Amino acid sequence: MLTAKENERLTQIGPGTPCGELLRRYWQAVCPTKELSGKVRKKRIEILGEKLLVVRLDDGSFACMSEQCAHRNASLYFGFIERDGIRCCYHGWKFDCTTGTCIERPFESAETTAKMNLKAYPMQQLGGLLFVYMGPEPAKAPPLPHWDVIARTDRPRTIAVLPDHKCNWLQIQENTVDTAHTYYLHGEFAAVNELDSKGVAEYYHRPIEKYDWAISHWGVEKTLVYGGDRPEVEVRPPLIFPNILRVPVGPVESMHFRIPIDDERTRIIWVGLMPEGSASLVPDSEVPYEIRRDPPGVEIEDYDVSTVWQQDRVVWETQGVIADRSRENLAATDRGIVMFRRMLQSQIDLVETGVEPTVAVVDAAEPTRMIAFDSATRPWNEAVAPWYPGQETEAIGASHG
Ligand code: FES
Ligand SMILES: [Fe+2]
Repeated sequence: MLTAKENERLTQIGPGTPCGELLRRYWQAVCPTKELSGKVRKKRIEILGEKLLVVRLDDGSFACMSEQCAHRNASLYFGFIERDGIRCCYHGWKFDCTTGTCIERPFESAETTAKMNLKAYPMQQLGGLLFVYMGPEPAKAPPLPHWDVIARTDRPRTIAVLPDHKCNWLQIQENTVDTAHTYYLHGEFAAVNELDSKGVAEYYHRPIEKYDWAISHWGVEKTLVYGGDRPEVEVRPPLIFPNILRVPVGPVESMHFRIPIDDERTRIIWVGLMPEGSASLVPDSEVPYEIRRDPPGVEIEDYDVSTVWQQDRVVWETQGVIADRSRENLAATDRGIVMFRRMLQSQIDLVETGVEPTVAVVDAAEPTRMIAFDSATRPWNEAVAPWYPGQETEAIGASHG
């Protein structure tokens, strides 16, 4: 249980909020690189409560800046990209895309002041995704972690951007250490509803005999011991701090980036490293993606809960837009959640005192070293087998949080 004040401290992510400042110390996934290809050179995106514009520059690199013009707030999305910046379509003020500096104001004095500059953030691309660092000092940005799912070059990958989830990021990420939820939410759901997901039901519908968690450099490790007819010790990759799920689904290695859009909405970008030979290897800028959207007017009662992802989604969203953690009764199976919350609290405290976070930080001496996790268990291998290659939608449905 948390007090209302503690809950606020962990869930609010806008500029200047304690958790918002912590999350800004980590590279955040923005969108598939391929979205900005060909004639498309701009994209509007909201992250951590800020309206941003991503621009592909003439040299093929990417820049990220505040979307709204410093003059009278029109969107620069409709602006004109020029060799040295982007010009607002309303009255023509021009901004350097990489620094945000106002460099021209037609029909005005040539003088500009710092107040006319926009925020600009560094971007990097890896594995078909664009990432942004929104920390206060771009020069001090840590290395972008080379997670194996986005850094390996020997297997194809695919990306999916899921529909916006109508809830705060924290309840989604807490689910990553909530290992005991799978028996009922996935196993029982599949069994009772006779869903066509036999492998899921068989895997999770086993009595849980023991569970444990441990703190590691990357986040929180989790272990589950199944009993019954098919006893097994389930060891999976850790919860990656602060907002990533890393999980194998049969032969597909996946990552889920849970990016706060604002306090009440979360974007999930799913990346799957596919089995060798399941699709062709392509350059990062060509990694295929799909954007999934909810049908128009869909209410939560209408969600298709036949997939593991939607089963998770209905519990996340019905916990409340921002779950009220002062009304919980935590139990023994929630110990991993408590460990994660304490980790989050301690890292927020560090940043507040002017120190950089210490969890899930890449060694600066080896900035591009691949970060891989071994999994002793690979859920429902047989069930996932018929899905690839190219059946990304199904693969998402079964990648579990
Ligand atoms: S609002 Fe952009 S130049 Fe006026
Ligand atoms: Fe789940």
